[in-house]
Amino acid sequence: MELYRIKGGKRLFGTYKLSGAKNAVLPILAATLLSGAESRIVNCPDLSDTEAMFRLLRQTGCSVRREGEAAVVNSNILRSSELSASLMNSMRSSVFLLGPLLARCGQVTLSDPGGCNIGVRPIDFHLNALKQMGAEIVKKESALVCRAQKLRGADLRLPFPSVGATENLLMAAVFAEGETRIRNAAREPEIVDLQNFLKTCGAEIRGAGSGEILVRGTETPLQDAEYSVMPDRIEGGTILLAAAAAGGDVLIENAVPGHLMSLLSLLERSGCEIQRESGSVRLKAAERLRAAGYVETRPYPGFPTDLQSPFLTVMSLADGQTEIRETIFENRFKAAEQLKRMGARIEIKGQRASVTGVEKLSGARVRAQDLRGGAALVLAGLAAEGETIVENICHIDRGYDKFEVALSHLGAEIERMKE
Ligand code: UD1
Repeated sequence: MELYRIKGGKRLFGTYKLSGAKNAVLPILAATLLSGAESRIVNCPDLSDTEAMFRLLRQTGCSVRREGEAAVVNSNILRSSELSASLMNSMRSSVFLLGPLLARCGQVTLSDPGGCNIGVRPIDFHLNALKQMGAEIVKKESALVCRAQKLRGADLRLPFPSVGATENLLMAAVFAEGETRIRNAAREPEIVDLQNFLKTCGAEIRGAGSGEILVRGTETPLQDAEYSVMPDRIEGGTILLAAAAAGGDVLIENAVPGHLMSLLSLLERSGCEIQRESGSVRLKAAERLRAAGYVETRPYPGFPTDLQSPFLTVMSLADGQTEIRETIFENRFKAAEQLKRMGARIEIKGQRASVTGVEKLSGARVRAQDLRGGAALVLAGLAAEGETIVENICHIDRGYDKFEVALSHLGAEIERMKE
């Protein structure tokens, strides 16, 4: 087991270039399955989740190789549409393989997808919509067997704008008969990235980024493509929040300020100075942060649930009271208990966290329990007095490409160690 040792109290200064987005590259890698051709995915971050996706793709018969920052996937020959329970359990995003495999092979056997332990995370929206597209889905012991000789286009309406369901259905519809309309679609920028990748391969899709997506099914095979993944807005937001917590002045290069709108206005409200340029964001930290008041997580363009835990750390250090309501996942305040061990004053009641800011946090031994909650503990360690040990950092490795290297580059004292 590995851990981080952090000596707190160092302000962060300098420039950081964002990695490719985890939440964009995972569905894009799944979509390479559809093409039956060679896809070169540039700016592919080095994460344990991307490695897990490579293993899943290989299990289906794809060849996958790394060429520096690119991943090259050839899905010409597929030999299996059965996804092993152990691989599926290692990552929630394994569910993305359902749509493309069904479209390509006409049958998929899968077990329950895993991932961060942040809530129940059902896949009923995915399954119900696929049934509307003609799929037959039966439960066989602990596995689900999905079959469809040929999916057919349908007029779909999601009960909630689920990111994963929107992406899965968009992929499933590429080879369906006729048109598929996805209403109440999620609008996250990562969905636009997936659409753009598939269009580069020759698919006919429009509307991603809005609440309605239209896919015209095609019989023509897709083609070889090279595609560069969008920058990671959640990594960008986390680095900005790190600077807000620890103090300093950082410039994020390769960022799209529009993707971070909700966070940037909250940081301004808290007294940080933000400069937005096309392609970069700069944050000068407030001398003393002000509480943001009331904040709730919402689907894009609202405040992202993935930044809620790091934001909790920052508000723990702000002057005044903040109320944070989590509306997307029911179990996303796990970092709070650990932050309290560092001196934070947080009260959790159901889906609400009431935070009374303190002047300083103190170093402690804490334990990451999920990806973004783990990042929140690192941020607290950077801002705290003394030494912090963050255990169980395998969670953080799922979604941040060499987090300690990024933070050290900005002046933090953080090292990765074996337990
Ligand atoms: C994606 C992101 C994750 C982010 C989340 C919300 C990736 C790889 N992961 O996760 O980082 O936190 O969006 O922005 O992109 N739901 C159902 N039934 C379903 C599907 C979802 O009830 O079939 C519920 C979920 O339990 C949750 C809500 O819908 O309460 C949103 O989930 P969803 O948008 O699907 O999240 P993911 O795609 O899993």
